[in-house]
Amino acid sequence: MRPLRPPAPFAAWAAGAFGEAALIEYANATAGIYRCAALVGDRLEAILFVGPAGDRLCWSAARAAFAATALDRDARIALLSGRTPEGGGALVCACFGVTLPAIRDAVRTGRAETPEALGALLRAGTNCGSCLPDLKRIIAHERTPASH
Ligand code: FES
Repeated sequence: MRPLRPPAPFAAWAAGAFGEAALIEYANATAGIYRCAALVGDRLEAILFVGPAGDRLCWSAARAAFAATALDRDARIALLSGRTPEGGGALVCACFGVTLPAIRDAVRTGRAETPEALGALLRAGTNCGSCLPDLKRIIAHERTPASH
């Protein structure tokens, strides 16, 4: 396996290439992922997604974002997570666009009762791991009988 390149050169390139646009970014140097959206006002002007094979941009999300007259906070998060904002709910795993309702449903239905099982089912927590504390907290909450 080739070593992953850090995202810093891409961030510098985007800052120069997208001129006066405001940049919103997601970077994971360990995974070699850099994602950037350039906004003029609230409107999307450009995107740059860099990552290893398997780290994919959701083209329908990108098309919808370019077509929108304005991107709100949830749409911006969804775009950088590479997913559509469909299905709603708070985003827990930004790497894979996994929402709180999806995690709750997996736990409540018994399909996933550990972070590892959530990773196998939804991919949540299987990239940078920064959402693992949230996954553990959600599982503990959902498995507490009084929480439903
Ligand atoms: S936020 Fe990176 S693996 Fe969940």
